[in-house]
Amino acid sequence: MFEIRRLAAAEVIERKAEFEALLKDAVEVGGTVGFLLPMTKDKLDRYWSGVARDVEAGERELLAALEHGKVIGALQIAYEKAESVRHRADLQKLIVHSSEHRRGVARALLVDALERMHALGIAMYTITTFKEGPAEDLVRSLLFTRFGTMPHYGLTPDGKLHDASMHYISLAAVEE
Ligand SMILES: CC(C)(COP(=O)(O)OP(=O)(O)OC[C@H]1O[C@@H](n2cnc3c(N)ncnc32)[C@H](O)[C@@H]1OP(=O)(O)O)[C@@H](O)C(=O)NCCC(=O)NCCS
Repeated sequence: MFEIRRLAAAEVIERKAEFEALLKDAVEVGGTVGFLLPMTKDKLDRYWSGVARDVEAGERELLAALEHGKVIGALQIAYEKAESVRHRADLQKLIVHSSEHRRGVARALLVDALERMHALGIAMYTITTFKEGPAEDLVRSLLFTRFGTMPHYGLTPDGKLHDASMHYISLAAVEE
């Protein structure tokens, strides 16, 4: 069984090759996580070095799903910097290795992230998904509200424009 753990920057660096392999796999199977093919070593290296720097700076957190000591999935929580919006955080780069799909790993990562943000007092969580893609059903089942869709939001890994859906959960209304 897998576990979900928040990683410190040093462990992100230590496991960089695993995260690179995870991201490369996701893009190569068509995942829309901000990258176009081909996934070069240089792109992967620069990306994960940047994540480690952001984690070190406290600007984002990286949750990893680990099984038998290996990374099988990941999700990032990006915190807002401006003081008027520190009650908000954005969930980014939900990725599960293609060999581990449909085992509940993504769901567990999201649930853990929501618990983490709640514990920190974050009251508004947002996530953007590929419109009508696999992650959309998942986030809606976790009680996110879809507040809109944007046409031509981004490119798929093979360069075709795709639409996206934006979702949020607000605890502010509950706590007012
Ligand atoms: C999207 C992704 C993260 C889902 O990861 P996962 O661990 O397989 O998801 P889970 O097993 O937790 O699935 C939970 C629910 O999500 C939905 N879901 C997941 N994958 C799906 C698929 N391929 N098609 C339709 N629904 C899907 C289902 O409702 C599923 O529940 P069920 O298995 O009980 O039917 C994974 O496919 C992935 O990493 N894709 C590549 C990267 C990517 O595109 N990320 C999302 C960017 S928006």
